[in-house]
Amino acid sequence: MRLVLLGGPGAGKGTQAKALAQHWHIVHISTGDLFRYHRDHGTELGVLANQYMAQGQLVPDEVTQKMVEDRIGQSDVAAQGGFVLDGFPRTVPQAQALSGMLASQHQQLDAVLYISVPEEILEERLVGRRVCPQCQANYHVTFHPPQVVDTCDVCGTALIQREDDRPHTVQTRFRVYQEQTSPLIAFYEKLGLLRTVDGSQPPEKVTRALAAAVGTVADD
Ligand code: AP5
Repeated sequence: MRLVLLGGPGAGKGTQAKALAQHWHIVHISTGDLFRYHRDHGTELGVLANQYMAQGQLVPDEVTQKMVEDRIGQSDVAAQGGFVLDGFPRTVPQAQALSGMLASQHQQLDAVLYISVPEEILEERLVGRRVCPQCQANYHVTFHPPQVVDTCDVCGTALIQREDDRPHTVQTRFRVYQEQTSPLIAFYEKLGLLRTVDGSQPPEKVTRALAAAVGTVADD
């Protein structure tokens, strides 16, 4: 199973990718998480990526593509029989590069799942999101609060707000999404891979709708 999750900032790609990876026993690959890991460990890649992430801009394609190619080539992906990509591709050149990477291994995508959510809802989700800097668990002050205010349920660490979830940067991310990522909807529709799901429903309903959309692909 090789899937791509597409959607605006805060559409629920990370939330749903985790659920789908668990459901199908495939590997969850999040470019945002990979960049944050490198940033937090002070690697050369992380320092470079953070110059773009902190401003809500995209990291250059070549850097991102190389990172994804390395990750897809790791043994757990072959062992588990697939992946769900969260946050990649994000530009048409990245989508073309992904097709090339897969074709070189005689593989292709099974489906591109577009999680559609109106911008007003996205904004509310991003501004209210809190994350655990230790174990990366994800919360929302209203929709998914921790049991103890500002404290991770899993490991007890104090929760933080992502730097790029501050209102000004959120607006930049929306603009970047419209300009550079939303053309992928038509790109994948033309290839017959796109399945659209209403992402404004509660998370469990979105998961069921996504699983059903992939079921349709498998039965085609
Ligand atoms: P990335 O981390 O991928 O950011 P994003 O795409 O903006 O996505 P988010 O992580 O903000 O949101 P999400 O869709 O995963 O939603 P989530 O499930 O967390 O990328 C960060 C940066 O890295 C980019 O800006 C860029 O600089 C760089 N980067 C990454 N990939 C790149 C690439 N390919 N090329 C170049 N640069 C790249 O949910 C959000 C909130 O809503 C949470 O609080 C959650 O609890 C809540 N929520 C989720 N679903 C629901 C629901 N159904 N109902 C109510 N609440 C919900």
